[in-house]
Amino acid sequence: MKVTKSDIVMSAVSPAQYPTTFLPEIGLSGRSNVGKSSFINNLINRKALARTSSQPGKTQTLNFYLINEMFYFVDVPGYGYARVSKKERAKWGRMIEEYITTRKMLKLVLILVDFRHEPSREDVQMKEFLDYYDIPYKIVMTKCDKIPRGKWNKHKSAIRKAFGNVRDEDLLVYSSQTGQGKEKAWEWIEEAIEY
Ligand code: GTP
Ligand code: MG
Repeated sequence: MKVTKSDIVMSAVSPAQYPTTFLPEIGLSGRSNVGKSSFINNLINRKALARTSSQPGKTQTLNFYLINEMFYFVDVPGYGYARVSKKERAKWGRMIEEYITTRKMLKLVLILVDFRHEPSREDVQMKEFLDYYDIPYKIVMTKCDKIPRGKWNKHKSAIRKAFGNVRDEDLLVYSSQTGQGKEKAWEWIEEAIEY
């Protein structure tokens, strides 16, 4: 998809603030600092539409980015940020859960995990949560530029195994820095928003 127009449209913490345009949405989930904002920026060839940061926990609301007036990327706040209070984390959890379980326009969730590490408990829980609610999802393994190619298969198998029954074709080796996996990511997105 050639992206000709992209804007940050809105931030939301509750359904009343979600967009009312009835366009399809692609959710991005994953722990803080995994590279969700970078993923958006790389896909739409922008340096900083979605705010990136080396400081985890920066994204704290659901952020809707309107792309080509066709669909939204929804940057979901990172979980697993140790330095917020339990109460804050519970609030984030409810916000994410509410969005995922009630949002009819949500067509696909991309679970971003760091290619270097096994998925966290929260990543696996998110996957199981999406299975339970029958919401389509795929796994994007980010920062692959940090792993030599010769080790990709080993890392891929470990991540796949940790998630349980994920199909091989639902895993993507990806890097925002090199653009690895970018085309495939767009294929997934285009397919998901057609329905
Ligand atoms: P929160 O908003 O805190 O949830 O984080 P996020 O998931 O949006 O992560 P963000 O995109 O801000 O990236 C975090 C850090 O990882 C930044 O320093 C990015 O430059 C870096 N980063 C993201 N993607 C990649 C990648 O593919 N390769 C490498 N080498 N670094 C990356
Ligand atoms: Mg972010």
